[in-house]
Amino acid sequence: MPSTVKAVIARTKGAPVEIVDVIVPDPGPGEAVVRIEACGVCHTDLHYREGGINDDFPFLLGHEAAGLVEAVGEGVTEIAVGDFVILNWRAVCGTCRACARGKPQYCFNTRNATQKMTLTDGTELSPALGIGAFIEKTLVASGQCTKVDPQADATAVGLLGCGVMAGFGAAVNTGGVSRGDSVAVIGCGGVGSAAIAGAAVAGATTIIAVDVDDRKLEWARTLGATHTVNSRSTDPVDAIRERTGGHGADVVIEAVGRPETYLQAFYARDLAGTVVLVGVPTPDLEVTLPMIEIFGRGGALKSSWYGDCVPSRDFPMLVDLYRQGRFDLGAFVSETIGLGDIEQAFTKMRNGEVLRSVVVL
Ligand SMILES: NC(=O)c1ccc[n+]([C@@H]2O[C@H](COP(=O)([O-])OP(=O)(O)OC[C@H]3O[C@@H](n4cnc5c(N)ncnc54)[C@H](O)[C@@H]3O)[C@@H](O)[C@H]2O)c1
Ligand SMILES: [Zn+2]
Ligand SMILES: [Zn+2]
Repeated sequence: MPSTVKAVIARTKGAPVEIVDVIVPDPGPGEAVVRIEACGVCHTDLHYREGGINDDFPFLLGHEAAGLVEAVGEGVTEIAVGDFVILNWRAVCGTCRACARGKPQYCFNTRNATQKMTLTDGTELSPALGIGAFIEKTLVASGQCTKVDPQADATAVGLLGCGVMAGFGAAVNTGGVSRGDSVAVIGCGGVGSAAIAGAAVAGATTIIAVDVDDRKLEWARTLGATHTVNSRSTDPVDAIRERTGGHGADVVIEAVGRPETYLQAFYARDLAGTVVLVGVPTPDLEVTLPMIEIFGRGGALKSSWYGDCVPSRDFPMLVDLYRQGRFDLGAFVSETIGLGDIEQAFTKMRNGEVLRSVVVL
């Protein structure tokens, strides 16, 4: 029997989110229904509600979640009812041209549920990043469920489902940070702070956190930043060069998604260094760069979708590091809230008061 459950949607561009009844179908072939235990509020949810991603309203928001598998459809063998899973938005297909070349982290044909969740009047919802987890239970493709240690705290490990994985992977997978590197991270929200933690785990010796908010810089220190720069009062490019022997950092991670911070990242890296864009720009934004600088500085300008993760490889590993006390996922949880508190969580995010607000169901 399809269930009717409470969920948070963005009905129209820019309007406050609403709690509504949503109909969740029973899982069909290759699908699963997951009872959500916790779901973080990511900046991408706010991008969706502001129409910054696309216009497929109404959106079922939330996409950074963990929970228990409640039902599986025909042919699902890799997960079973009762499994504790983190939801992912990269259910690799195994057959596209990226997968066929052994690069599933770039899978071009990731899977989502085939059936739609709807409002009670039949209006189809667009689940954020193919997940939609500000809801009591959600319908996903079974490959979107990654089984992890059931002893782990859902509030913390759910964050691996998006922002923390994106930031950690931007440093470790995309940026290739390793022992002895210098790293700068511009924008230290949930994503940027995870990039700092990732750089620390990977053995970077200089980790410079840049933000416009002192609270974020304090948290960045606790997660592994060795230096902090408030770019409201200090030029970040000069500051990063100063702290890296005048050269710039080996890897600079942009975790804001704005032209001015991208340019700072571009000019703050060392020759042959790497820039990683993990912040998501809105479609109107542009950057202009002298081509001779792009050529002359060498190195790599990369972007990072989801930290170039492979969920089945990376989620269990990060849960292990967390359970061993080597990666403080709990530090990202600034507050736990209810489904009715998401607008306030967006305000707190805008005001820089939180790394992550996490909805607990
Ligand atoms: N690539 C991906 O796979 C992926 C995944 C999740 C989120 N994101 C994106 O990453 C970005 C960050 O997400 P978040 O959840 O950490 O957001 P957030 O709002 O928690 O953090 C953004 C941070 O940037 C800081 N900031 C804003 N303007 C700045 C400036 N000019 N200079 C320096 N710092 C500045 C803010 O103070 C804040 O600390 C967003 O664009 C989000 O959409 C990307
Ligand atoms: Zn694929
Ligand atoms: Zn996200």
